[in-house]
Amino acid sequence: MNTTRRDFVTLLAGATGALVLLPVACTTTSSSSSSTSSSSSSSAATPDPLALPLVPDGFEALAFNRARGNAGAIPDGYRGAINAADGDQNALGKHLPWVPSLAAGVVPAGMLPLMWGDPAKGYAAHPNAAPTPEVPSGHWYDWIRVRKATAGDAVEREARFSAWPASAVGDDGRYAAASGSDVTADKGKGTVYLVPLPPDVKAGDVVRIHAHCLTHGEYVDFVTVPA
Ligand SMILES: [Fe+2]
Repeated sequence: MNTTRRDFVTLLAGATGALVLLPVACTTTSSSSSSTSSSSSSSAATPDPLALPLVPDGFEALAFNRARGNAGAIPDGYRGAINAADGDQNALGKHLPWVPSLAAGVVPAGMLPLMWGDPAKGYAAHPNAAPTPEVPSGHWYDWIRVRKATAGDAVEREARFSAWPASAVGDDGRYAAASGSDVTADKGKGTVYLVPLPPDVKAGDVVRIHAHCLTHGEYVDFVTVPA
């Protein structure tokens, strides 16, 4: 580092002596603060891929979740799928939330309906499955966190889904069927997750969804709460 700074100063000194003091002053400031701010400096230079965005500005769901997944949010065994040529549609997109339009009365007041894998974006629909000998954990989203998309203070509320196809005692998450009444139809792809909204969220707000698939890890995206 010292050699680099010296070379930098020498270069500027060669260009014009009048500018020498400026890089020296900058170097001094940088050097004196490095011992106390090295961690923040390095985190600013290299953003933590596991960090959650507060607002959707510039957010790209597929790229973000691929990077976050490769950094540990998605299990090793599913990395090949998310990084494959069809990973956007059949692995990452399949796990991103969307808000279905349902018949009046299906969604209780204060709850947000969510499904995974928006067909309007060409994503595969996410199936759901109860535990089997082959997949003892089962395959569904066991927690979903909702937070108003704001850089300010907000309440993040987590809903639990500890069983599927029916909610378990103590769960505050609920299920509904996108059509008909059987959430197990078509490999559970018509399952709608009903998630309680935080108290500071109203219709029309954008919210961050941070959710966990039992077998495929965590996913993050933003959706708008319908009127
Ligand atoms: Fe999954």
